Amino acid sequence: LVAGIDSSTQSCKVAVLDSGTGALVRSGKAAHPDGTEIDPSLWWEALLEAVADAGGLEGVSALSVAGQQHGMVLLDASGNVLRPALLWNDTRSAPAANDLVAELGAAELAARCGSVPVASFTITKLRWVRDNEPGIARRVAAVALPHDWLAWRLRGYGPAGHGPLGPDLEELTTDRSDASGTGYWSPRLEDYDVELFGHAFGRAARVASPGRFRQDDGHVILPRVAGPAETTGTIHPTHAGGFDGIRLGAGAGDNAAGALGLGAMSGDVVVSLGTSGTVYAVTDSPGADDTGTVAVFADASGAYLPISVTLNAARVLGTTASLLGIDLERFSELALAAEPGSDGVVLVPYFEGERTPNLPDATASFHGLSLASTTRENVARAAVEGMLCSLAVGLDAILRQGVTAKRLLLIGGAAQSPAVQAATAQVFDVPVQVPAPGEYVARGAAVQAAWALSGIRPEWPHPGLAAPEPDHRPAIRERYNTAAEGIRF
Ligand code: XUL
Repeated sequence: LVAGIDSSTQSCKVAVLDSGTGALVRSGKAAHPDGTEIDPSLWWEALLEAVADAGGLEGVSALSVAGQQHGMVLLDASGNVLRPALLWNDTRSAPAANDLVAELGAAELAARCGSVPVASFTITKLRWVRDNEPGIARRVAAVALPHDWLAWRLRGYGPAGHGPLGPDLEELTTDRSDASGTGYWSPRLEDYDVELFGHAFGRAARVASPGRFRQDDGHVILPRVAGPAETTGTIHPTHAGGFDGIRLGAGAGDNAAGALGLGAMSGDVVVSLGTSGTVYAVTDSPGADDTGTVAVFADASGAYLPISVTLNAARVLGTTASLLGIDLERFSELALAAEPGSDGVVLVPYFEGERTPNLPDATASFHGLSLASTTRENVARAAVEGMLCSLAVGLDAILRQGVTAKRLLLIGGAAQSPAVQAATAQVFDVPVQVPAPGEYVARGAAVQAAWALSGIRPEWPHPGLAAPEPDHRPAIRERYNTAAEGIRF
């Protein structure tokens, strides 16, 4: 058996699979508080609880951890977490992102690390800490991402009293997909840009080097980047219910793990509708985007994953449904009762500010409301269309990188809504397929665990797919783009 973990913004999920067939054997889940700033120990407790909920690790030979990307976990020299982690959805570092772009230029940043960092990226959070919490900045001995920190803890490392092997920061590891989201790792060079880190944070950095324990040289330690099929160590028996020798894979960012779990290949585009909306493609060349629309990441298999992320996805539907006083099932029916295009009503859905386009202080707005078009049906459908159109802007930018889209895989909580499926086929000019509901991020982490175990990437059967009728309606996007282009803060 192999296990995959998905430590997300709200919860932790565990999937235990047969390593030969990829069949799901058992699973578990535990919720933890969400928000934009959180004590990492709550992720750790949820992970242990989710593993227990999955019946423990008996029979499991390898495990890998996927996690929400970008989150900044700051450790001191004794392995203590210095402040609550700032997450991908925390926008306080938007001015710091602007400062970095003003100092170095968007073109230079994109040439060095593939992307122009926005508030989500770790590098902007570090700049914010430098400027706002200098006392903490001085004490930082290592910077880890959520999955790096959880994997380190699973191997038995941690501060006194919390890790049987002690706080050896040189044992921190990450992987290329998650390292991409820091803003100081180059997918093209497969290496950290320590100079860029130094510029942003004002402290010199170096890569963790196992065996240098207690040789503190004043540098900030960055996790070593493990390869896609690497075993980074074993889970400490204390955290594995006494079982010894369970291997740990390299881990991954959640989007890259989702791609692995879906078996997405070159030519596939994935649209994921969770708290955030993401659209990404799997491609063979790294690319770079200096407009800030696409983050050009490495993936978890040796390829690349250009991605565009919106802050407003499933919650656009939830918020509009509660405005209308109905549940999500009724909301879907109501939306389907309107004509495609919502009779000209457009919702630009930047409820919580937006990341793509980079408008952290924006708010949502309705457009095209006339006395006749202002119906509950049109408002519901406009919410679905607005959520999808904002992601379609990201896909356009990904395609401008030379990527071809032959098929769009629609996943995430909102993907099962009949109204969302119908509108996806109308908004996007790519054939849509909807995989059977499943935990694809945890499954992708399990793919990685199986890969680490055998040295061969597993070829498990693909999920069942439903395919809504192709029904492309360009007018929906034209009206949306006109409404959205007017919004500037
Ligand atoms: C990716 C991103 C989000 C998080 C969500 O750039 O910010 O998709 O990974 O967990």
